[in-house]
Amino acid sequence: MAVNGAKNAALKAMAAAVLFDGPVELQNSPNTDDIITMAEILKRLGANVERHDHRLEIDASMIKSTDMNLELSQSMRASIVLTGPLLSRFGEVSFPAPGGCVIGARPIDLFLEGYKKMGANVVLENNIYRITASRSLNNTDILFNKVSVGGTETLMMAAVLGKGKTTLKNCALEPEIGNVARWLNACGANIKGIDTLTLEIEGTGGKLLSSRNEPFVTIPDRVEAGSFLILGALCADDLSITNCRPEHLESTIGLLRESGVSIEVLTAGKEKSPSIIRVRNNEPGIPFKSFNLRTHEYPGFPTDLQAQLAVFLTQAEHESVILETIFEGRFKYVEDLVKMGANITVMNPHEILIKGPTPLSQLPDDEELRAHDIRAGFAIVEAALVGRGKFTVNSIHLIDRGYEKLEERLRAIGADIKRV
Ligand code: UD1
Repeated sequence: MAVNGAKNAALKAMAAAVLFDGPVELQNSPNTDDIITMAEILKRLGANVERHDHRLEIDASMIKSTDMNLELSQSMRASIVLTGPLLSRFGEVSFPAPGGCVIGARPIDLFLEGYKKMGANVVLENNIYRITASRSLNNTDILFNKVSVGGTETLMMAAVLGKGKTTLKNCALEPEIGNVARWLNACGANIKGIDTLTLEIEGTGGKLLSSRNEPFVTIPDRVEAGSFLILGALCADDLSITNCRPEHLESTIGLLRESGVSIEVLTAGKEKSPSIIRVRNNEPGIPFKSFNLRTHEYPGFPTDLQAQLAVFLTQAEHESVILETIFEGRFKYVEDLVKMGANITVMNPHEILIKGPTPLSQLPDDEELRAHDIRAGFAIVEAALVGRGKFTVNSIHLIDRGYEKLEERLRAIGADIKRV
């Protein structure tokens, strides 16, 4: 099973295209619906976006408008990262209060506070934010009081074209941020401290970045790789996950190994080149060992693999507790698993208790299961593949936002699944 490029990196590189003086090329970009939405938002602003399979060409030099489309922006929270480059380049941006996955309150205070500290003026009218900066955004120290992936990326990009130095402290360390930052540096930006808690951005003083024939090469999607790894641990005899970066999945690999799953990491030679993770099913009849889990910012266990691992834990012996520390309301899938026979109690909006192992079984009267968000959607498909009988999962458009042609790829490794 080959892993695609990380949508959470490609989306940010698409937004960063606004900082350039001409066309940029993005390689290994996944064909997921979120990428299509971001492309559409850019097009409505006046950019030219062309997609050739996993390659994107974006020319944002002819952008005319800085008013982000209301409906499209609300359909995807990641659209907010576009506000940083737009504000940096044009000194203004307007956008609706963002939407996206329904996984609890997702405020944008860190973005707004950051822009204000950088010298911008923020006005909210009729649910539309209008942000203006009369001078270039610059020369400030920002300490995030909460670690935020989108906040780090957006303020980093907002500072790139400014004058003077911006220091961002308590930054997120997710590898997708470094992926974008390194590319920006190769194209004329000056970002120091990549992959550390403090980023220092020396603004170009208004000079746009230039692609210099340096494409953005999207790193492998660690959440997709982790999803396949967990699925493989549950129901594959022998599955090789190729084109991935095992070093981005240390916490997941560690937990699964402790639980008794056989995982082999085969590096492809050169450091940091894509590798293979081989996962083999446990001895039949020997259940996995349970464990407690706490989601955490990178390099801790990712919230985006929490639901997939909960399904795994329904097949582990004894009790496991999952503490979701990043988002509230990320346990909506529990209801569906319980209908299938899982023994899961929601203790509070951040904590569940799983008792296993329990078989997962077909629902009576053809009742359907639901994909509640991108990742929980994968988890429900995973549960259906592990379960006994036949299952129908609805709302799969949410899965399409983050996993390209999931059913085709799962069929290719032996799953009995079709889109209806
Ligand atoms: C990104 C990922 C998402 C992942 C999440 C956490 C993308 C497109 N999405 O989302 O898949 O689940 O990181 O790893 O890359 N917060 C505030 N105020 C803000 C911003 C965030 O309180 O202004 C809070 C959030 O509500 C959340 C926490 O900070 O509780 C972390 O969120 P953040 O890291 O910003 O997530 P995203 O960037 O939206």
